[in-house]
Amino acid sequence: MWDKIDEINKEIDTFTVETAEQLEQFRIKFLGSKNVIKDLFKLMKEVPGDQKKEFGQKLNTLKQNAQKRFDALSETTAASGTKAQTEKPDVTRPGFPFEAGARHPISVVRNEIVDIFNRIGYTVAEGPEIEDDYHNFTALNFPEEHPARDMQDTFFVHDNGEAPEKLALRTHTSSVQVRVMETQKPPIRIIAPGRVFRNEAISARAHCIFHQVEGLYIDEGVSFADMKQTLMYFAKEFFGKTQIRLRPSYFPFTEPSAEVDVYWGLETEADYRMTKGTGWLEIMGCGMVDPNVLENCGIDSEKYSGFAFGMGIERIAAQRFGIDDLRRFFENNTEFLKQFKGAQ
Ligand code: DAH
Repeated sequence: MWDKIDEINKEIDTFTVETAEQLEQFRIKFLGSKNVIKDLFKLMKEVPGDQKKEFGQKLNTLKQNAQKRFDALSETTAASGTKAQTEKPDVTRPGFPFEAGARHPISVVRNEIVDIFNRIGYTVAEGPEIEDDYHNFTALNFPEEHPARDMQDTFFVHDNGEAPEKLALRTHTSSVQVRVMETQKPPIRIIAPGRVFRNEAISARAHCIFHQVEGLYIDEGVSFADMKQTLMYFAKEFFGKTQIRLRPSYFPFTEPSAEVDVYWGLETEADYRMTKGTGWLEIMGCGMVDPNVLENCGIDSEKYSGFAFGMGIERIAAQRFGIDDLRRFFENNTEFLKQFKGAQ
């Protein structure tokens, strides 16, 4: 019996393991549920009373030795490749199912607008969402008393006394025009998509956060006719409509200014509702850049002229996808967003 303990001890110490299978054999033999050390424990009853204690201690040491040796062998086998490393993964097993996402409808429409203008040489420009009063209003020719400068319409950012300028969340992406003209020389042809903020009550038709796309083209001899042609191109590409009209309007930063309507038609009841029975759908504001704005941005207004336009993405997206409540765009309800799978 005592010899058996020494024998097993020796066997444990000299056991060599090269593969994961051999390691498993070691485990089964010395540590498994029917291991050889357990068999020796069963012999305890045959050991004379005065030797039982010593026998038990020897067996426990043997057991610990087996575990220690196993741990050491596992480590070295791991380094040379264990089961997980040596076995090839079964590539024919079915994968984990996970749902593909969808682009947000606002992104879908924004990308399409950007794409359309890219094709005629416009590049994307960006500006900060927290904007100073100068870029959002002053440089754009907003008079001091203009209502947009009022707390009712604009989210002003409380400054801690350190900011050199009054800061606000930009109320339109027209501020990007100013930033571009300050840093680039004509010819300038940019499109500026982005998020804008207005202090308005949230309803089905308005939201305090929304998205706009601003366009700007400055060069020598740019005319109102160039603007009209560009906007017709857009209406045709985006809406598939060929007729637009320009209604006189007012914006501080353009002169003359206009609202752009596309002729939608009155074929269905939905057309009546959407166009309020007129057949015309208002899509954006536009105009020839006011010479004051050019001069504010260091561009010679005698030499250069240009046009600008700006549109809200939500309204166009609502029309495109037949959505009657703008709040849907901001709720992040995946049941709603799932519907846009596959839309680019
Ligand atoms: N910034 C205007 C708005 O927020 C939209 C706009 C109108 C932009 C006319 C323009 C423009 O560049 O020429 O309502």
